[in-house]
Amino acid sequence: MTLDVNLTEGKATFIRGSAFYRPHSQTSRDLGVLAAAVYRSKLGRLRVLDTMTGCGLRSLRYALESEADLVWANDADPEIHGVLRENLNALDPRQVRITQLSANQIFWRCAIDGDYYDLLDIDSFGNPAALLASCLQAVCDGGLIYLTSTDGRTISGHFPQDSLRLYGTYTRAHPCVQEHALRMLIGSLAQQAAMQGFTVMPIFSLYSGQIYRIMVRVTHQTPNLEKNYGFVGYCPQCGDYSVPSWRYLSRTSCLHHRDDDPRKPMAMTLAGPLWTGVLHDRDYVQAMVERADDLNLSSQIPLLEIFRDESDLPPYHYPLGEVGRRGKMDIPKRGRLIDALLKLGYRATVTHLSSAAIKTNAPLDIVVETARFSST
Ligand SMILES: C[S@@+](CC[C@H](N)C(=O)[O-])C[C@H]1O[C@@H](n2cnc3c(N)ncnc32)[C@H](O)[C@@H]1O
Ligand SMILES: [Zn+2]
Repeated sequence: MTLDVNLTEGKATFIRGSAFYRPHSQTSRDLGVLAAAVYRSKLGRLRVLDTMTGCGLRSLRYALESEADLVWANDADPEIHGVLRENLNALDPRQVRITQLSANQIFWRCAIDGDYYDLLDIDSFGNPAALLASCLQAVCDGGLIYLTSTDGRTISGHFPQDSLRLYGTYTRAHPCVQEHALRMLIGSLAQQAAMQGFTVMPIFSLYSGQIYRIMVRVTHQTPNLEKNYGFVGYCPQCGDYSVPSWRYLSRTSCLHHRDDDPRKPMAMTLAGPLWTGVLHDRDYVQAMVERADDLNLSSQIPLLEIFRDESDLPPYHYPLGEVGRRGKMDIPKRGRLIDALLKLGYRATVTHLSSAAIKTNAPLDIVVETARFSST
């Protein structure tokens, strides 16, 4: 018996002991619980493999709140197993399995045994690159993978050789690298999945405080990588982005310079390949919104509504500071700029990636001009 203070989160009561527990990651656990609950209601079953469970909090919450039929709680650290067992004692023993293996061992064992899970939770420290190919071996057709990366360095754009080695993506430094970090993770997993004949589609993507999380669905469908996986061009001169097709990569130049502009044509800096498709599944996120009240998770509705609204906008965003700098004016007010762009017929919304940025399908020169007029 460990002497420790009882903590609570959602319906779980637990002790921490020497296990890793970060209260600020509650949002990610709440979203995982909600996505799992929606899956449970749609498919009538939920078997969870929580590969890096720490003190077991996620496993407890998937069992108690998402009504998982089975949770497999694993952590490679032998030191925390006393705490883990004590916490999971609250569950029916038929509902839980506890192991102390490395995640990769489990994934390959699942493949050998033909034992596939509805949800894999991979809450790793650092970069999860070494797990991308193997985790696909343990998920069922239509199942979910919830993957974490805390590796901000590799995606910063300053170490493209590292991102190329780990994820097959050549990153570049520009104002929306955090979004591209999420897209690099999704893209790398999608490419590994395509090699195995599977398709990956995002359910939601979350950037918060240097932590990157993606929840994706894996289906045994023929992948069409060309559609959602490619390069994003950044014009270092005017600051705008474009998404060139694979076929015409060699012709990539910035379209936003006027004919009389002496700088035209301007070559773009290409980052990729990365995921260029939707960042979230609008319908799935809406289903999560609709379950949130029942599960006492209504505090996550505003974030989910932002996911829903930004889901299919282009694969970049504009920081307001960048808009102000480009227009040589004060930083524009976000709400006023969004309203003005909407009035012009563009799509525009806040983004969860930054409270000081917008997502829109308007080109940057229009955004700058609109900001200028909407501020007067
Ligand atoms: C970020 S913590 C997990 C936190 C926990 N999921 C939560 O939400 O409270 C990462 C955990 O992964 C474990 N770990 C690290 N590498 C692992 C591996 N390759 N296989 C299994 N567990 C691993 C560590 O012991 C640590 O407890
Ligand atoms: Zn340009």
